[in-house]
Amino acid sequence: MRKPIIAGNWKMNMTPAESVVLSQGISNRYGRGGDEVDVVLFPPAIDLRSVITVLDFDRSRVEVGAQNVHWEPSGAFTGEISIPMLKDVGCTWCIVGHSERREMFGETDVQVNRKVRALVEAGMKPIVCVGESLSVREAEQAESFVCDQVRAALAGLEPEEAAACCIAYEPIWAIGTGRTATPEQAEAMAAAIRATVRDLVGDKTADGMRILYGGSMKPANAEAFLACEDIDGGLIGGAALDAEDFVDLVKTAM
Ligand code: G3H
Repeated sequence: MRKPIIAGNWKMNMTPAESVVLSQGISNRYGRGGDEVDVVLFPPAIDLRSVITVLDFDRSRVEVGAQNVHWEPSGAFTGEISIPMLKDVGCTWCIVGHSERREMFGETDVQVNRKVRALVEAGMKPIVCVGESLSVREAEQAESFVCDQVRAALAGLEPEEAAACCIAYEPIWAIGTGRTATPEQAEAMAAAIRATVRDLVGDKTADGMRILYGGSMKPANAEAFLACEDIDGGLIGGAALDAEDFVDLVKTAM
């Protein structure tokens, strides 16, 4: 009933020239794509134009998003990229609050909420990342930590605004480590996230919201995550840098 999403976060990988090769590889393997799965690529900002040009040329259904954005539409914010810039280039999605931005660049819950609100107001689709560190999990605080992040990210949104968002649960200890959460751990957290969304904005939005798992997901382990009741797709890092693996993941979600 909820359409799955397979999202590829390229992080700080791929020069513009390399991004053309990778997006062509994905497009060649996937063809124009069907309507069963939303497929979204998140290249570095400098690659957006090249990737969108390749996909447009192939009339692909694969969509493109940014890895980060500033909430102000313009101004003296050296190094930042605005929503009007992303829309102009053809982006429809944006990742917000990835743990790498929170941990390495000090992004706060308040900033995440500003970005989410600005994106939704502009008609873009945020993927809000949440997830706990190993020490938080070991202290048995994971669920309350993650659900607090969800409440902060969606604060002030009306139900129809929150409906534009997806949430990606990415335990920090599983990102890029080869170690995944078990499907049971991921499903338990996804269910807790959905219950939190239900409290915040009601049944309709909670039932429709797509919740993704991220953290060392690859073709060999994806099926078990995608079979979970409350998991509606994956936010893929490492395996998204290989066209064959990425398209295999898309096919697993079909
Ligand atoms: O955004 C993607 C996640 O951080 C997962 O990365 O698949 O390399 O663990 P990974």
